[in-house]
Amino acid sequence: MKTVYIETVGCQMNVLDSELVIAALKKDGYTLTDTPADADVILFNTCSVRELAEEKTYSAVGRVMQHKRQDPTKVVGVIGCMAQKDGEGVRTRVPLVDMVVGTGQLAKIPELVRAVQETRQPQYALSLGRKDASRHEVEASFESYDPARDPEMRPTPFQAFVRVQIGCDKFCTYCVVPSTRGPEQSRHPDHIVQEVRALVNQGCKEVTLIGQTVNSYVFDHGDGRRTRLSDLIATMHDVAGLERIKFVTNFPKDMTNDLLDAVRDLPKVVKYLHVPVQSGCDEVLKRMKRLYTVAEYREMLDRCRERVPGVAISSDFIVGFCGETDESFDKTMKLVDEAKFKNSFIFKYSERSGTKAAERYPDDVPEVVKKRRNNDLLAVQNANSLADHRQWIDKSVSVLVEGRSKRETSRDRKGAEPAAVPQLTGRTMTDHIAVFDAPERLTGRTVTVDVDDATGFTLFGRVRTEELVGVTGEAVDVPAFRPRRVSLEVV
Ligand code: 5AD
Ligand code: SF4
Repeated sequence: MKTVYIETVGCQMNVLDSELVIAALKKDGYTLTDTPADADVILFNTCSVRELAEEKTYSAVGRVMQHKRQDPTKVVGVIGCMAQKDGEGVRTRVPLVDMVVGTGQLAKIPELVRAVQETRQPQYALSLGRKDASRHEVEASFESYDPARDPEMRPTPFQAFVRVQIGCDKFCTYCVVPSTRGPEQSRHPDHIVQEVRALVNQGCKEVTLIGQTVNSYVFDHGDGRRTRLSDLIATMHDVAGLERIKFVTNFPKDMTNDLLDAVRDLPKVVKYLHVPVQSGCDEVLKRMKRLYTVAEYREMLDRCRERVPGVAISSDFIVGFCGETDESFDKTMKLVDEAKFKNSFIFKYSERSGTKAAERYPDDVPEVVKKRRNNDLLAVQNANSLADHRQWIDKSVSVLVEGRSKRETSRDRKGAEPAAVPQLTGRTMTDHIAVFDAPERLTGRTVTVDVDDATGFTLFGRVRTEELVGVTGEAVDVPAFRPRRVSLEVV
């Protein structure tokens, strides 16, 4: 039996890419293994957004080479963003790598694996650089990789990521994504809706539409018709059996009213918006080339909350960007304090070669200052997250049950006696995480949970008993939930 091992880091796009690559190799007769030592093919699906992620990946690739030295027939591949960014440089750092495949060339992986096995020659499949050719040629070299889906390959059969757009055209000065994932291209809405239908037929209840700037999705049919994200969601909303629609990540300037109205009016759409602001200081935003001011972002937030009552909003921040002074950082602290995000993802600026920021501005904020600002911002956000979560106490929420909670899976790993009634986890319609004790067969179902406590990260509650009784008597018609490989880890 031929086996493949994959390690995935980075965003949802990478998680989806890994799912699809593994599904393609499965068609070629491979099965998935959790141990690289056993694998015939070892893949690293990589992220280049921050240097630390790259360094960790290079160390991990270096470590698996011990297996390749023992068995030179193994195929080791570096795929995804870092492959596209470093190209042949991957083999300069780790010469034994057999395969380097960029984000826009993933469909070729099965044939490249065969080519390595037959020729023992290294194989490269990379897309064109953004300035290497005309826009049309560069676009063509980044192919959206969306083959038929295999429900076996998803961590849970009732949830799926669906790509609606590839690439990015925003060119924020700190970011490698426009070069590692190429020009922004929206998929044909008919293909997306077909994919969602197929997923629902496989038992999928929740789809998360993904794109780097998903709310700038627009498909030009070439005959004067244009499909926007709001139109796409409205069409998808009619798919019987689909319960929830989410979409990430949003670009603040593209948050149009038609989309907000769709979020408000369509009951299946999750009332949650991830809209990264990155900084609360206009000068910093300008150097980042984010295309909006803090006042404009604040107006957008007000508009979101006015048009979609009760919407939960989260953000991303970069601290210690070039030229960020104490005064600029104070403005970011003020924004976080006032904006009342459900949660925020905070990153220390990491200079990336090839970006405009690396060319133009020195990385002049010392690491200790970046760290302190990261902690200070997190402290303000944590206080707001706690207040945000506590407002749900004594309310009831609708939760799509995802399975055993982290507490249970860590007990499982330690070999502890399983609890009679395990703690399960799931998300609410505002994307809050909820945990509660309930039988595992509720996994994949939507239940009502009465919230009685909360931390800044989690709601704690009880499942409505009448539902439990109702469910107990029924034959279970959801696909059995199988916990899957741990190697598909998101960092
Ligand atoms: N350094 C630090 N954080 C970055 N991000 C993107 N590029 C960088 C970088 N060079 C962050 C942004 C983005 C998130 C996905 O990663 O906050 O929203
Ligand atoms: Fe990077 Fe900016 Fe595009 Fe997001 S919008 S992927 S931060 S360039």
